[in-house]
Amino acid sequence: MTNSPRKILVTSALPYANGSIHIGHLVEYIQTDIWARFHKLRGYECYYVCADDAHGTPIMLRAQKEGIEPEELIKRMHAEHQADFAAFAIGFDNYYSTHSPENRQFAYLIYQGLKTAGHIEQRIIRQAYDPVKEMFLPDRFIRGECPKCGTADQYGDHCEACGATYSPTELKNPVSAISGATPIEKDSEHFFVNLANFETMLKEWTSSGSLQLETQHKVNEFFEAGLQAWDISRDAPYFGFEIPDAPNKYFYVWLDAPIGYMASFKQFCEKKNLDFEAFWGKDSQAEVYHFIGKDIVYFHTLFWPAMLTAGGFRKPTAVFVHGFLTVDGHKMSKSRGTFINARTYLDHLNPEYLRYYFAAKLGSGVDDVDLNLDDFLHRVNADLVGKVVNIASRCAGFISKRFNGQLAPQLADSLLYQQFIEAGTAIAEAYDQREYNKAVRDIMALADRANQYIDEYKPWILAKQAGQETELQAICSQGLNLFRVLMGYLAPILPLMAEKVTEFLAAPVIWQPQPLLAHTINPFKPLMQRVEQLQIEALLESAKESLKTLSPSPPIQPSQLIEPLAETINYDDFAKIDLRIAKIIQADPVEGADKLLRLTLDIGEEKPRNVFAGIKEAYQPEQLVGRLTVMIANLAPRKMRFGLSEGMVLAAGPGKKDIFLLRPDEGAQPGMRIK
Ligand code: MSP
Ligand code: ZN
Repeated sequence: MTNSPRKILVTSALPYANGSIHIGHLVEYIQTDIWARFHKLRGYECYYVCADDAHGTPIMLRAQKEGIEPEELIKRMHAEHQADFAAFAIGFDNYYSTHSPENRQFAYLIYQGLKTAGHIEQRIIRQAYDPVKEMFLPDRFIRGECPKCGTADQYGDHCEACGATYSPTELKNPVSAISGATPIEKDSEHFFVNLANFETMLKEWTSSGSLQLETQHKVNEFFEAGLQAWDISRDAPYFGFEIPDAPNKYFYVWLDAPIGYMASFKQFCEKKNLDFEAFWGKDSQAEVYHFIGKDIVYFHTLFWPAMLTAGGFRKPTAVFVHGFLTVDGHKMSKSRGTFINARTYLDHLNPEYLRYYFAAKLGSGVDDVDLNLDDFLHRVNADLVGKVVNIASRCAGFISKRFNGQLAPQLADSLLYQQFIEAGTAIAEAYDQREYNKAVRDIMALADRANQYIDEYKPWILAKQAGQETELQAICSQGLNLFRVLMGYLAPILPLMAEKVTEFLAAPVIWQPQPLLAHTINPFKPLMQRVEQLQIEALLESAKESLKTLSPSPPIQPSQLIEPLAETINYDDFAKIDLRIAKIIQADPVEGADKLLRLTLDIGEEKPRNVFAGIKEAYQPEQLVGRLTVMIANLAPRKMRFGLSEGMVLAAGPGKKDIFLLRPDEGAQPGMRIK
């Protein structure tokens, strides 16, 4: 180790440019932002960079659907993402895009490194191909019947009904989700990185303290399963970087995505005149940390260190993995209204409520984080409004009104102040270890202590007694100084409130400050409102609404809600069914049958047909008389208890009140055949 001050580079995973930021993402960006802000507050040279992950098939297809160029789409999403992050006070030093010249350059460099060292091999593989759209189909764009349970409209690689995983070639009756065409199989040459070549290096790096214990176990499972060669190429049409000397071949989005960390930092270095090599060079003494979710561990702990090595760069100091967000114990759900976009949240609630709540729940492990909405309301109100802000609001008024905003020249209880300062050591340790839940517990214990102090000396009573001015000023000044220490500890979590407090106290909110003595403060303004139950309800309502209108147009309809399709038939099978336009000339209840109506149908024959239909709960007889519908005219007659039924009328719906009789367009005549 050197004695030079720490240089730290922090990243969060790059969000895909084809969707909006939601509160699940925010677990990660808030977690990382708190860590970066904490290290900056402690005076380290710390930078936090990120970017949009702009490449890949979904982005290309979405742009096509909107009738715009992908460049235009990613530009719009970039602006949207940046605005959302800014509103949540995510303090990136730089926010870039993987679709950038810097990223292209680094991607080429790393690819050359891999190639020169003999880590790339070319192989022909057979893949599903959409003959109409003329493109190879990623698994998620193939739909068909599950080979295990037969459920219709399942993904190319897994069934949502029975959980089976399989390869797209096993899917029954597959169709392209893009064009609806039946995919064919087609050969194509792909580029593979031979990951096994890096096994020794990876085993060493992953077991040398760069990973949490749980992640290390996960990675060991990957090693045990054997490192497979990694397919890094995709065929045109694709939105990404073309592979040098390989026309119509593109880098797979995941090749250039993590390189985006470097590209964003590179752009930042150019702007700020910083030494890029000092952070990413092979001999860098700086620290580099990646915060990621548990779904992308493979990419960051195996592929990424291998790529860095091949490119001649250093490896990350550590990768910090977090769990997934659940809401009230469940995966975020569109129908429950708990799939909440960042923007929707902001329309109803203060962003710092969520920052505080996530901090109060986050530890250093990979467990999922639950947003329990009752607990959220209670915690924010009890802790932030009831404890922290309360200290200031109880003291500030007296200082403003009675002492012209002037704090006492001395601390009333310097020992207590000293205890608050010393508590900062354990709080700092908790932040550094990403045990934010512990930091919050410690800070709230101090807030309780400060409130106790005020309760003990009762400034509101002193204020009514003659000759207690000095005492009143001393107690309130002590309270405000303790409050300032607390706000220093909370600043990584609540940067916006810390700014307001800086203005109110007319002094910076810093870590372990010297007390403010004989200092003039500004009048107190409310720092934070309570959360109301109604706001939460309104949020859930809007979340349901916004998804109806704004959802980022998934390429695939969630049609597993429909009944599975029947077996395929050919035209001859269909032609056997004789469907006719029928006029209902009479409709009567049937004695002894709750569900049936007796219909008398004219299909142009000499004698009308008699048909019993189970539609009584849905239709009044008089609604039906005179209208046209459709019947199967060649169904074998069926003898029923009430008489002979000579065919069937056609209707849709689950039954009971929900039955919808077919009706032809204006102009159809009784007896016309339907074909
Ligand atoms: N584009 C890739 C990352 C490339 S990094 C070189 C990606 N994007 S993402 O938008 O799907 O996710 C971005 C980050 O947010 C990931 O770390 C992911 O794990 C995290 N989360 C996305 N949904 C989440 C929750 N519901 N809960 C917690 N984190 C979640 O993956
Ligand atoms: Zn299945």
